[in-house]
Amino acid sequence: MTTISSVLEMQRTADSVRLQGKRIGVVPTMGYLHAGHLSLIRIATQHADVVITTIFVNPLQFAPHEDFTRYPRDIERDSRLAEEAGTDYLFIPEQNEMYSSNHLTYVQTESLAEVLEGKIRPGHFRGVTTVVAKLFNITKPHVAVFGQKDAQQALLIQQMVRDLNFNIELNIAPIVREPDGLAMSSRNVYLNPEERKQSVLLSQSLLMAEKMIVEGERNSQIIKEAVTKLLYSQPLAVIDYVSIADASMLHEIEFLSSGTTALISLAVHFGKTRLIDNTIVRIS
Ligand code: PAJ
Repeated sequence: MTTISSVLEMQRTADSVRLQGKRIGVVPTMGYLHAGHLSLIRIATQHADVVITTIFVNPLQFAPHEDFTRYPRDIERDSRLAEEAGTDYLFIPEQNEMYSSNHLTYVQTESLAEVLEGKIRPGHFRGVTTVVAKLFNITKPHVAVFGQKDAQQALLIQQMVRDLNFNIELNIAPIVREPDGLAMSSRNVYLNPEERKQSVLLSQSLLMAEKMIVEGERNSQIIKEAVTKLLYSQPLAVIDYVSIADASMLHEIEFLSSGTTALISLAVHFGKTRLIDNTIVRIS
């Protein structure tokens, strides 16, 4: 595995890989890699000849009060794990090369970015789509792999790729979970033992919602109330939202009619840590 930090060197390397007729797969990350990230890298190896993993904690997607400065970082460990999972090039740019002092151009995907995570974190997705567009132009991939863990992010990137004619195939990979069901996240390290114990409720409440639907419940309000009640059965949970929305445009759904594909998503604070999780349900 070769580590590259210069944008120009990454572009030249991507050009020469393409000239050899090889397919490039990219896995954008903010580092502090866990099994979820590594599953994306493995998927990329199955769809490309050369895999580029990027690590960049993107300041543009953090609000001033968020955790940019304390976001966990461990480049040495990440390098080892990325290589073991099949990365050929690890791209770790410097912040001042990614955003020069006169950076003026942003990519904004409208309505989709204004609900759910975007409503609670204004400007977040503008940061995400801008950096991902830049990473696409730097790594020149044929295929890019993202995780279903960040369902709204994946939808926005699909929309951006269509709207801006990026000639890139997207692969959205399933959520990788801890044995007790907690979705893997770099932010899980922030949880103290009691918060960690209670955080299992996120996946449990999604399972309960799925079960209610399988058993015939079609009223979203009733499902959301049951989920809220279960989450609040633990003293540390503070809910940002519980949503049942259509899985393509993210409009909230009141009644789950047959043929609908619904995204059930949650954002919940445990102490200072904010966790998200989701599941997709197809109503037959
Ligand atoms: P990060 O949170 O590091 O996640 C990088 C990729 O890993 C994303 O596509 C995310 O959805 C995926 N991922 C995270 N946890 C996962 C899990 N438990 N199972 C499967 N996939 C998982 O998402 C970002 O970084 C950034 O917003 C980024 C796209 C890199 C832009 O800065």
